[in-house]
Amino acid sequence: MPKFPELELSESKTLEINTVAVAKRQTGETVYNLSAGEAYIDLDPNIESAIARAVAEGKTKYPPVAGIPELRSAACDWVNKAFRGNYNPGQCLVTPGGKMALFYLFQSFLKPGDEVIIISPYWVSYPVMIKLFGGKPVILERQADEAWHFDPAQLEKLVTPKTRLIVINNGANPSGVLYTQDEIDAVFKIVKKHDLFLISDEVYSGLAYDDDFRSFADFPEVTKNVVIVQSCSKNFAMTGLRVGFAFADKKIIELMAKLQSQSTSGAATIMQYAALAAVLNWEKIIPGINEELKARRDLFFNELKTKLNQEHTPSQAGLYAFLNLDKLTGSKEKDSDRFCLKLINEANVASVPGSAFGKSDFVRFSYGATKQKITGAVAALAKFIS
Ligand SMILES: Cc1ncc(COP(=O)(O)O)c(C=O)c1O
Repeated sequence: MPKFPELELSESKTLEINTVAVAKRQTGETVYNLSAGEAYIDLDPNIESAIARAVAEGKTKYPPVAGIPELRSAACDWVNKAFRGNYNPGQCLVTPGGKMALFYLFQSFLKPGDEVIIISPYWVSYPVMIKLFGGKPVILERQADEAWHFDPAQLEKLVTPKTRLIVINNGANPSGVLYTQDEIDAVFKIVKKHDLFLISDEVYSGLAYDDDFRSFADFPEVTKNVVIVQSCSKNFAMTGLRVGFAFADKKIIELMAKLQSQSTSGAATIMQYAALAAVLNWEKIIPGINEELKARRDLFFNELKTKLNQEHTPSQAGLYAFLNLDKLTGSKEKDSDRFCLKLINEANVASVPGSAFGKSDFVRFSYGATKQKITGAVAALAKFIS
């Protein structure tokens, strides 16, 4: 009997909840899916027609490994104009989603024992990817009563001789915090001072609602210390099309392109043309998506107010409401795994337990769902809690 492969990987926390949701849907029940990290918004017509055109023109062969040149160039124009960056196409890699850009980055940078500082609550995949490449996640714990902001001095205290990377996710998943200019400036100073590299995960840059998003793109000589990860997924409501980007020093991009050539071969050619239509029209598309999601965020938090009589602080950015269980359930439930499973089983509302993000006393709801689903979900949630 040959030995089966063994790899220590934590199973997705949403799997069990999804299984219940799928089974319920199959029996014809209405399920409110507030677990998905995506916006239920139709594709922009420019993107749709670009896909049809690419198919008609037979753009079905392998793409250039680093991405089609028009897209690398247009993606730089987007970041340069939106965030006062100064990138050229040689400093941009097109990847199958931002996730793959992060995967290549951790693989490129990490050696066993290297430390990576991340902020909790963190996006689920950071610690998993870091560990996969032998790294050690070092966690800066943040609290809801400080609106999830952080004290740069606390962050600096975590820097050791083993620190290889710091990861910042502005417009954070799941907390919805939008870091201030001061926080971003302070982080940049820390990476400079300690000669570190920073991965700035900016995939939610277009979804800042009450204040401007602050990118790292315009710092002088940014490529010496920073890699920016971007994506079409959330900014252009293109999650299933799988196109993302890395912006970095040319040498890093070349190394990542080598990894890409030996693994995925890049994002699907047709989807690169779809992404091209997206980034060429960013000034039109992103504000529309932002406006719609801001309205859905407001609806979600207002519904909590009217149906549950609860005042939760609205998220400043992104797609998620990260709610304290104690407050939500009137101290009836503190364990997010148990709560989310009960919620889908008894009220047909799918959510994600905070334990997936390092905070087991919280629960994440996505307001990327349609307005109708949001209203229905909060009504079902209110009934369940009462
Ligand atoms: C914080 C964060 N980074 C990166 C990604 C990756 O997105 P994609 O691979 O769809 O571009 C996600 C997706 O949920 C995310 O939440």
